[in-house]
Amino acid sequence: MATKHLLGLLLGTEEDWSGAFEALLSRARLDIVEHGDRHQFESERITIEPFNLRAHPRYDLVIDRLAHWYFVPREWLKKIALMNDVYLLNNPFTFQAMEKHAAYCAMMRLGFKIPDTWLIPHKNPPHNERFAYTAERYNQPFDLEQVAQTIGYPLYMKPFDGGAWVGVTRIADRDALQKAYNESGERLMHLQAAVDGFDVFARSLSIGAETMVMRFDPDRPQHDRYQVDHGFLKPSVGDEVVTIGRTVNAFFRWEFNSCETLVKGNQVYPIDYANACPDVSLISLHYYFPWAVKALLKWSVFCAVSGRRMPINLDLLSWFTVGDSDMTYDERLGEYRRLADDYFQRDDYEEFCVRHLGAIDEVMLEYVRSNEFDRLLVRVVHATFPVHEHEQFVEHYRGLLKAWADGR
Ligand SMILES: Nc1ncnc2c1ncn2[C@@H]1O[C@H](COP(=O)(O)OP(=O)(O)OP(=O)(O)O)[C@@H](O)[C@H]1O
Ligand SMILES: [Mg+2]
Repeated sequence: MATKHLLGLLLGTEEDWSGAFEALLSRARLDIVEHGDRHQFESERITIEPFNLRAHPRYDLVIDRLAHWYFVPREWLKKIALMNDVYLLNNPFTFQAMEKHAAYCAMMRLGFKIPDTWLIPHKNPPHNERFAYTAERYNQPFDLEQVAQTIGYPLYMKPFDGGAWVGVTRIADRDALQKAYNESGERLMHLQAAVDGFDVFARSLSIGAETMVMRFDPDRPQHDRYQVDHGFLKPSVGDEVVTIGRTVNAFFRWEFNSCETLVKGNQVYPIDYANACPDVSLISLHYYFPWAVKALLKWSVFCAVSGRRMPINLDLLSWFTVGDSDMTYDERLGEYRRLADDYFQRDDYEEFCVRHLGAIDEVMLEYVRSNEFDRLLVRVVHATFPVHEHEQFVEHYRGLLKAWADGR
């Protein structure tokens, strides 16, 4: 008898990767025999409704794109992880407790080259009747300009928990600093030294045990930030970027996350790597979109068939033992990579893919060349761009996906 694994998709507004994921899964008709058991797969979009905490979920694994802002599904995810061992991409426990700020702290301790970062108290204090008394007794007056001078201009002011570029300001001088701070209102902010004059912005996207490092241009419009460019980093630097992304993910038990690094000479500076819901839209990823959809599918199938467990807790000590040691930076990178690849069972995963998922590349290629995919592409472009740009952008995306299909 075959086990039918149900993969749940917890979605917001996106129709692109989810549609492609469903199409790929259905076209692949997976029927995997492992250790004498047969495994088949279905996916389902999850709807939100009242739930009994003792109810038994039907899902083996859930890909979550919603819980970072919507608390009903977030609490449901916690329940199904704690009570029913459902595997989640991502772990809501650590993503809730460990946002950008915690990620900076942890990766500083591991010795990565995070630019100097300070946390500054709110401009407008929290609404709490105890605040005035507490502040009067315990809040030290501080000189914002002095903190900025210690860091040095230019610098960035950005929310401690960040996301979607909201509230991020590049600051060149004292006046701009005061203006940005006044505008920050109730948001808790970091000040961070700018990595100026960097050579390359390398943004990596990790899905389970796989990582794609892409050249990113933050000054371009959304649809044109990821550049189709191969070999743009020295191999050793590219490897370091991969290690940083995987280390963050293995450390926090995140499995679907992007990591931004600025590369200057041979130095790699990580600046942002806690994205609970990384951008995987067709519009942004274009050429790299098929890779992301395949990686999501392969990792989900691997987790379901192998019975991989999602640990809710962290294992900080193994990492800090390396971070606190007197190893050189390069030695540490080697250790982190080993720990991360171990955590993600990279060898098992690769071997599993060869054994059971060898046909996925071909299925994806056929899908991307199909009318079904073209209809998805057209729908997504129409939903994204103004009418007068439809034709131009449909051709633009067709060209990029054709380049992917022809170039593989
Ligand atoms: N220390 C820094 N040095 C240079 N540029 C920076 C620095 N910090 C942020 N930036 C620039 O500002 C952008 C937004 O900052 P950051 O990624 O930290 O915020 P975010 O809200 O998480 O953005 P997103 O959701 O787009 O990832 C970065 O992509 C980068 O271009
Ligand atoms: Mg960012």
